[in-house]
Amino acid sequence: MLEKLKKLEKQANLGLKSCNSVPDLEEWKIKFLGRKSELSLILKDIKNIDVSLKKEVGMLGNKLRIELEALYNDHLERLEPSKKEQNSSLDHFLPGREVKVGKLHPVTQTLREIKKAFSSLGFQVAEGPEIEWDKYNFDMLNIPEDHPARDMWDTMWIDEKMNSNGEKMLLRTHTSPVQARIMESQDPPIRVIVPGKCYRYEATDATHEWHFYQVEGLAVDKNLTFADLKGTLYEFAKKIFGNDTKIRFRCDYFPFVEPGVDMSIFWEGKWLEILGAGMVHPKVFEKAGYTDPNISGFAFGMGPERIAMIKHNIDDIRLFYSNDLRFLNQF
Ligand code: DAH
Repeated sequence: MLEKLKKLEKQANLGLKSCNSVPDLEEWKIKFLGRKSELSLILKDIKNIDVSLKKEVGMLGNKLRIELEALYNDHLERLEPSKKEQNSSLDHFLPGREVKVGKLHPVTQTLREIKKAFSSLGFQVAEGPEIEWDKYNFDMLNIPEDHPARDMWDTMWIDEKMNSNGEKMLLRTHTSPVQARIMESQDPPIRVIVPGKCYRYEATDATHEWHFYQVEGLAVDKNLTFADLKGTLYEFAKKIFGNDTKIRFRCDYFPFVEPGVDMSIFWEGKWLEILGAGMVHPKVFEKAGYTDPNISGFAFGMGPERIAMIKHNIDDIRLFYSNDLRFLNQF
């Protein structure tokens, strides 16, 4: 029986050499692997074989079957390369799967536009901590403890009790504290913008979120004037809203600037306020340790959500943070 298997192997190999076409090969397959082939008969009949030979014949027979099947596949591939693929489950005619490309969040897009606009005007980008000491969020900005101006910023306290250094911890209510941090560690000239997240203890509605972004700006140098503030913010407005944008300044109050203003742009028939600004208050310089009487500076702070809302006609700030793809996919 074992000899028979060996002989079969030789015959099959020999036979394969003269298979020059697919029909030849199919015939070869029937002869050596078909249901009525000698090999199949041997394997089928194995239960009647003498026990001492059963194991060996079974093993050799199965090995031969696997070997001949592989030979068949190889040969078929050589004779007709596409035939094998047709037999496989790969369908070359199915349309490809769509690759979904992600998008930047509309606020991220707006932040990038703002950064680009100010970079081209010579401003650097800095960041500061979202968890802040009350000293930087208020005191250094000329808003002392118990000053009524603190009510302008409803604060989320992390720890309202003073620590041993007399400091309290909060979630910053604006990006202005980074002004104080920068001036504390750097001498003029300074031209910097500070994008970042802010938090307020506030009921949400269409125009208020309890967390939102701001972009702060600070320029300090010798002899900067309000004309520099105006020119810079006008250029910014043109870059963001278009070259023929009109701007308007009105007096406003912020404890860290004097004079303080708010700036509006004329958009679709209306004046819309987009930022607060002013000349840095002498008290703020003093607290930061700037003593040179010739230095002056201007500062500003804006809300990128508000700018995105104006540009894209969005009527509810809460849409930005509700993770609704029907909204987000539009940008
Ligand atoms: N920090 C102010 C706010 O959150 C915005 C602001 C106004 C920033 C005037 C400034 C500024 O730097 O000069 O309401």
